[in-house]
Amino acid sequence: MPATDTAPKMVKKGAWISEHDAIYKTLMKISRGVERLGANGVNTRRLKKLAGEVEELRTTLERHFVGEERQGGLFDRLEEILPEQGGTLGRLRKAHADFATRLKAMHHELRDGAVHDAKALTKQLAELVAAVLDHERIEERLTERALNWVPPKRD
Ligand SMILES: [Fe+2]
Ligand SMILES: [Fe+2]
Repeated sequence: MPATDTAPKMVKKGAWISEHDAIYKTLMKISRGVERLGANGVNTRRLKKLAGEVEELRTTLERHFVGEERQGGLFDRLEEILPEQGGTLGRLRKAHADFATRLKAMHHELRDGAVHDAKALTKQLAELVAAVLDHERIEERLTERALNWVPPKRD
Protein backbone atom coordinates (compact mmCIF):
# COMPACT_ATOMS: atom_id res chain seq x y z
CA MET A 1 0.00 0.00 0.00
CA PRO A 2 1.48 3.39 -0.92
CA ALA A 3 2.07 6.04 1.70
CA THR A 4 -0.80 8.49 1.92
CA ASP A 5 -0.95 12.24 2.50
CA THR A 6 -2.84 11.75 5.75
CA ALA A 7 -1.24 11.52 9.18
CA PRO A 8 -0.22 7.90 9.63
CA LYS A 9 -2.21 5.92 12.20
CA MET A 10 0.63 3.67 13.26
CA VAL A 11 -0.15 2.82 16.83
CA LYS A 12 -3.13 2.61 19.14
CA LYS A 13 -3.55 6.06 20.63
CA GLY A 14 -1.17 6.51 23.54
CA ALA A 15 -0.60 2.80 24.07
CA TRP A 16 2.73 2.36 22.33
CA ILE A 17 4.57 5.12 24.22
CA SER A 18 3.08 3.92 27.51
CA GLU A 19 4.31 0.43 26.70
CA HIS A 20 7.82 1.74 26.04
CA ASP A 21 7.67 3.62 29.37
CA ALA A 22 6.68 0.41 31.18
CA ILE A 23 9.52 -1.45 29.44
CA TYR A 24 12.04 1.24 30.47
CA LYS A 25 10.87 1.00 34.10
CA THR A 26 11.32 -2.78 34.14
CA LEU A 27 14.73 -2.46 32.47
CA MET A 28 15.81 -0.07 35.24
CA LYS A 29 14.59 -2.50 37.91
CA ILE A 30 16.62 -5.28 36.30
CA SER A 31 19.67 -3.00 36.07
CA ARG A 32 19.45 -2.27 39.79
CA GLY A 33 19.06 -5.98 40.52
CA VAL A 34 22.13 -6.77 38.43
CA GLU A 35 24.10 -4.07 40.29
CA ARG A 36 23.03 -5.55 43.63
CA LEU A 37 24.19 -9.01 42.55
CA GLY A 38 27.51 -7.52 41.53
CA ALA A 39 27.94 -5.52 44.74
CA ASN A 40 26.45 -7.87 47.35
CA GLY A 41 26.83 -11.30 45.79
CA VAL A 42 24.37 -13.99 44.77
CA ASN A 43 21.73 -15.29 47.14
CA THR A 44 18.40 -17.07 46.56
CA ARG A 45 16.26 -14.05 47.46
CA ARG A 46 18.08 -11.76 45.03
CA LEU A 47 17.94 -14.36 42.27
CA LYS A 48 14.20 -14.93 42.74
CA LYS A 49 13.50 -11.19 42.70
CA LEU A 50 15.49 -10.81 39.51
CA ALA A 51 13.76 -13.86 38.03
CA GLY A 52 10.40 -12.16 38.63
CA GLU A 53 11.57 -8.94 36.97
CA VAL A 54 13.00 -10.80 33.98
CA GLU A 55 9.70 -12.65 33.59
CA GLU A 56 7.79 -9.36 33.89
CA LEU A 57 9.95 -7.95 31.08
CA ARG A 58 9.44 -11.07 28.94
CA THR A 59 5.63 -10.99 29.21
CA THR A 60 5.45 -7.21 28.68
CA LEU A 61 7.69 -7.46 25.62
CA GLU A 62 5.78 -10.43 24.22
CA ARG A 63 2.53 -8.42 24.13
CA HIS A 64 4.36 -5.35 22.89
CA PHE A 65 6.03 -7.20 20.00
CA VAL A 66 2.71 -8.67 18.84
CA GLY A 67 1.31 -5.15 18.60
CA GLU A 68 4.30 -3.84 16.66
CA GLU A 69 4.32 -6.78 14.24
CA ARG A 70 0.58 -7.08 13.64
CA GLN A 71 -0.68 -6.56 10.11
CA GLY A 72 -1.05 -2.83 9.49
CA GLY A 73 0.73 -2.12 12.77
CA LEU A 74 3.76 0.03 13.52
CA PHE A 75 6.34 -1.94 11.55
CA ASP A 76 4.11 -2.21 8.46
CA ARG A 77 3.45 1.52 8.55
CA LEU A 78 7.11 2.37 9.05
CA GLU A 79 7.99 0.16 6.07
CA GLU A 80 5.45 1.99 3.91
CA ILE A 81 6.57 5.46 4.92
CA LEU A 82 10.32 4.78 5.18
CA PRO A 83 11.01 1.99 2.66
CA GLU A 84 14.73 2.78 2.77
CA GLN A 85 14.70 1.56 6.40
CA GLY A 86 13.68 -1.97 5.40
CA GLY A 87 17.01 -3.43 6.56
CA THR A 88 16.76 -1.82 9.99
CA LEU A 89 13.15 -2.94 10.36
CA GLY A 90 14.14 -6.49 9.42
CA ARG A 91 16.78 -6.45 12.16
CA LEU A 92 14.26 -5.09 14.68
CA ARG A 93 11.81 -7.89 13.82
CA LYS A 94 14.55 -10.50 14.24
CA ALA A 95 15.57 -8.98 17.58
CA HIS A 96 12.05 -9.59 18.94
CA ALA A 97 12.47 -13.36 18.63
CA ASP A 98 16.03 -13.19 19.96
CA PHE A 99 15.03 -11.19 23.08
CA ALA A 100 12.19 -13.60 23.85
CA THR A 101 14.52 -16.63 23.64
CA ARG A 102 17.24 -15.02 25.78
CA LEU A 103 14.79 -13.81 28.43
CA LYS A 104 13.15 -17.23 28.71
CA ALA A 105 16.53 -18.92 29.25
CA MET A 106 17.63 -16.32 31.81
CA HIS A 107 14.34 -16.53 33.67
CA HIS A 108 14.71 -20.34 34.03
CA GLU A 109 18.29 -20.01 35.21
CA LEU A 110 17.39 -17.39 37.84
CA ARG A 111 14.13 -19.02 38.96
CA ASP A 112 15.80 -22.40 39.48
CA GLY A 113 18.71 -20.77 41.30
CA ALA A 114 20.93 -22.76 38.92
CA VAL A 115 23.42 -19.96 38.43
CA HIS A 116 26.80 -21.52 37.77
CA ASP A 117 28.60 -18.38 36.76
CA ALA A 118 27.08 -15.27 38.36
CA LYS A 119 29.56 -12.97 36.65
CA ALA A 120 28.62 -14.32 33.21
CA LEU A 121 24.90 -14.08 34.00
CA THR A 122 25.08 -10.49 35.21
CA LYS A 123 27.09 -9.59 32.10
CA GLN A 124 24.46 -11.25 29.87
CA LEU A 125 21.65 -9.45 31.69
CA ALA A 126 23.39 -6.08 31.44
CA GLU A 127 23.95 -6.66 27.71
CA LEU A 128 20.33 -7.63 27.21
CA VAL A 129 19.08 -4.53 29.06
CA ALA A 130 21.29 -2.34 26.85
CA ALA A 131 20.13 -4.14 23.68
CA VAL A 132 16.41 -3.77 24.52
CA LEU A 133 16.91 -0.11 25.41
CA ASP A 134 18.73 0.50 22.13
CA HIS A 135 16.02 -1.38 20.21
CA GLU A 136 13.19 0.74 21.59
CA ARG A 137 15.11 3.96 21.04
CA ILE A 138 15.72 3.05 17.38
CA GLU A 139 11.97 2.45 16.96
CA GLU A 140 11.22 5.82 18.53
CA ARG A 141 13.65 7.60 16.19
CA LEU A 142 12.16 5.86 13.14
CA THR A 143 8.65 6.73 14.31
CA GLU A 144 9.62 10.36 14.78
CA ARG A 145 11.02 10.41 11.24
CA ALA A 146 7.84 8.82 9.87
CA LEU A 147 5.66 11.34 11.69
CA ASN A 148 7.73 14.18 10.22
CA TRP A 149 7.58 12.67 6.75
CA VAL A 150 6.26 15.11 4.20
CA PRO A 151 4.76 13.78 0.98
CA PRO A 152 6.64 14.87 -2.15
CA LYS A 153 5.13 17.88 -3.89
CA ARG A 154 3.15 17.10 -7.01
CA ASP A 155 3.47 19.56 -9.89
FE1 LIG B 1 10.21 -3.72 18.97
FE1 LIG C 1 8.92 -1.19 20.90
